[in-house]
Amino acid sequence: MQRVITSAPSKVILFGEHAVVYGEPAIAVAINLRTTVMMERAREYSVNGEPLDDRYHRYIKKAIELLWDGEPLRITTASAVPSASGMGSSASITVATVSALLAMMGREEERNVALNSFRVEYETQGRASPIDTSTVTHGKGILVANRKMDNFLWEVERGGTRWYIHHLEVPPLKLVVGFSGIKGHTPEMVEKVRRFYTWNAFARDVIREIGRITLEAIEPLENEDYERIGELMNRNNKLLTILGVSHPKLKEMIDASLRYSYGAKITGAGGGGCMIALTDEQDEVAKAIEEVGGKAYKVSIAQRGYEIMSRE
Ligand code: PMV
Repeated sequence: MQRVITSAPSKVILFGEHAVVYGEPAIAVAINLRTTVMMERAREYSVNGEPLDDRYHRYIKKAIELLWDGEPLRITTASAVPSASGMGSSASITVATVSALLAMMGREEERNVALNSFRVEYETQGRASPIDTSTVTHGKGILVANRKMDNFLWEVERGGTRWYIHHLEVPPLKLVVGFSGIKGHTPEMVEKVRRFYTWNAFARDVIREIGRITLEAIEPLENEDYERIGELMNRNNKLLTILGVSHPKLKEMIDASLRYSYGAKITGAGGGGCMIALTDEQDEVAKAIEEVGGKAYKVSIAQRGYEIMSRE
């Protein structure tokens, strides 16, 4: 194959971030902000006209290192996902790249894309759980659990923790993502929670309670009970705040959007990054978020995960 074009969505975590690192369940959905990758055989490696560089193209470089031993590639990328925001920009570029490399070799089955994308993220940034790469690969909704349940897709094991990835039926949620403008540092936030978790029994209770909330959310998600989903999001947010991953800017955006929302919470690692609100009034919520200085994205669920858009 000479040329492949792929695309991958981004994601938001609806329930269970941080707790998922300790094997608790979590729910995420793919959202319709996408990354596109074009890959062509060439004389030397390049990304968007620049030489392939570890500092700027970490995920692409790692994917090539782990998966490719063919001739050099000219790679062109375009992404609608703001970086370091908690919307899974790194998972999105990783899955688009990995699926393109695998498509070049005719090995782009969904499970293969998901497992290799997790490996790339894990080896690049010490990724704590496979939730982002699995969601971006599959699209729609994902439930990560510590045992096999209905609609099982694949499992991932790392450092003694095993995650079972499932398809989750989710209604057409109307979400608004509010970006604080402050870049989140996932590994730092994961480490901060890990210290708390290791030394403090109360923190371990909080993590387990987040797991219970996540399981409670499955039924209202399947039954389109938005009131209940919103209540559970608010409860999950309180617990994330207790874990110390909020930020005054996130709190401000959450408070502003609650007037028009069923519920709102931090999404992703926190400490900056993004919040999400579930609403029927996306315009009002977006306005409220921007009034307090955030950047709002009205998003909907991406039904499609990675896609091979063309191959020649
Ligand atoms: O902010 P993000 O998209 O990197 O999400 C982080 C989610 C955590 O649970 C905090 C870490 C993980 O790898 O699951």
